[in-house]
Amino acid sequence: MSHTRNIVILTGAGLSAESGIATFRGPGGLWEGHRVEDVCTPEALARDPELVHRFYDARRARLAEVAPNAAHVALARLDAEWPGQLLIVTQNVDDLHERAGANRLLHMHGELKSALCAACGDSAEWEDSLPPEIECPNCGTPALRPDIVFFGEMPYHMEVIETALSDADLFVSIGTSGAVYPAAGFVQTARHHGAQTLELNLDPSAGSSLFGESRLGPAGTLVPEWVAEMLDRG
Ligand code: APR
Repeated sequence: MSHTRNIVILTGAGLSAESGIATFRGPGGLWEGHRVEDVCTPEALARDPELVHRFYDARRARLAEVAPNAAHVALARLDAEWPGQLLIVTQNVDDLHERAGANRLLHMHGELKSALCAACGDSAEWEDSLPPEIECPNCGTPALRPDIVFFGEMPYHMEVIETALSDADLFVSIGTSGAVYPAAGFVQTARHHGAQTLELNLDPSAGSSLFGESRLGPAGTLVPEWVAEMLDRG
């Protein structure tokens, strides 16, 4: 990977698995006991706001019990030391990248520690539980919801991400199954613009054959190794 300057890194649930956060598409197809349609859709929120809020409250509370793992730490080191452009795009809604120290980071699927007002569109940092009846600090309407991109909703930061992908020399996908678009299509966009592509994952993802190189194993081992290679070479 000589002449690499601009790097885009996509991360998914597999990156946080070794920190003890459940992935989405594990055995049985249930996410922490729920079908995704029951908790991760605008319809679910309209039908049963108590359930959706309780579900995300539990996930937000869980953040206090987990810590960044070696993969988050290695990516934060790469972010701090890489002299070229670098963007970490995460599908994860946990805060482990930032707790490890990453700065050049975008959450494309939202954040557990943020509340979004469905009335005014404002978002606010949120640490505690988020009851459905609580008022928006900005407009006063009781319309706060978890700031999570549900199925059928538009992911955040797409313009910035598309621009970074078109400028990338290297695209790296870590710990994601490649089952959810638009993130699953980033490898094709990056390739189209001439980037080299690398996958680091426990199992081959849905789009594994699209990557120039695929390394299989746990992120906690593969990511620090890859980061050390990049920084030695740079
Ligand atoms: N190291 C590396 N990869 C791992 C590890 C690990 N320790 N453990 C699991 N994996 C891999 C799995 O093999 C799988 O390919 O991580 C991937 C996790 O896939 P998903 O559970 O589908 O998670 P993700 O790809 O992030 O899901 C994408 O779907 O519903 C949503 O919005 C949600 O952001 C999420 C999106």
